[in-house]
Amino acid sequence: MVIKRQVFGEVPGYGMVDLYTLVNRNGFEARITNYGGIVVSLFAPDRNGVWADVVLGYDTLEDYLKDNSPYFGSIVGRVGNRIAGGRFSLDGVEYTLARNNGPNHLHGGIRGFDKVVWAAEALGGPDGPVLRLSYTSSDGEEGYPGTLETVVTYTVTSDNELRIDYGAFTDRPTVVNLTHHSYFNLAGTGSGNILGHELTINSDRFTPIDDTLIPTGEVRSVKGTPLDFTVPALIGARIGDDYDQLAFGIGYDHNWVLNRPDKGLSFAARVREPGSGRVMEVYTTEPAIQFYSGNFLDGTITGKGGAVYRQRDGLCLETQHYPDSPNKPEFPSIVLRPGERYAQTTTYRFLADR
Ligand code: GLA
Repeated sequence: MVIKRQVFGEVPGYGMVDLYTLVNRNGFEARITNYGGIVVSLFAPDRNGVWADVVLGYDTLEDYLKDNSPYFGSIVGRVGNRIAGGRFSLDGVEYTLARNNGPNHLHGGIRGFDKVVWAAEALGGPDGPVLRLSYTSSDGEEGYPGTLETVVTYTVTSDNELRIDYGAFTDRPTVVNLTHHSYFNLAGTGSGNILGHELTINSDRFTPIDDTLIPTGEVRSVKGTPLDFTVPALIGARIGDDYDQLAFGIGYDHNWVLNRPDKGLSFAARVREPGSGRVMEVYTTEPAIQFYSGNFLDGTITGKGGAVYRQRDGLCLETQHYPDSPNKPEFPSIVLRPGERYAQTTTYRFLADR
């Protein structure tokens, strides 16, 4: 079990940030920076024990600081995903947020939790090396009410899991929906697209979207649609089908409502890359998951090792509450009040088929 700390670079106006390397006894390794809580690299073994970095990203901090980083590997908040029209009301008060995604608010705004410096503490826990990140989001930051004390811990467990525990407290009623935005490619970062990855999602229903990717409020069965991943299916098999939901998302960019046996950590999704045999399983305490097939990657980003990231070169599985929850009283609430504790846990577990 190893935790190594090195300087990653300087964030103008803040100072230096670090890159922490967390390794378990099997050699499973995550490199995480306290800028945005970004998972910069994640090394997982294939069926022959060959390691590859399975997340997209950049080699340098300077690249992450550039405007066009599409949330690679980051913690997303205060409210991940979209809020229609960049506005919502809470307890009769209307709040206005940045419209940073067409007419809508996306991923916490102009400077969301992916673009702030987190205080970091490296610890050894009983399950493996731990990086504890904390950030206080001030009252009114990005338009959200309430001071939010946020703690996110990353654990690299002895079962080859990257475990993420999120916790938050507020001093005024607010809305919170934290998630993680790694782009996975189980054949290895920069190795091409993910259309040949096989996906299973433990979900019978999804929330259809309009052409700005805001849920309409309907909760629809996946049965008979290209969004049915109840049994393993190749991501590329139906992504080009003539179905309005795929046209709106330019592929998969939807919220699946998870089938949950109970309130605890339960199985959400599984990805398998047939060539390498690498498998990733996702478990979460959240009610839903956004599967995003990297549709907006367009070949304008040069990432790690000089690789150009093209459309669908990575996939995101963002465990979350439903998009636009603050404006959809019928969806599970994301309101957090003083005295309550926000908590969510998600694990990404890596294994290989034989
Ligand atoms: C999320 C969204 C996508 C896209 C990416 C970032 O996954 O659902 O529509 O905005 O983030 O590019």
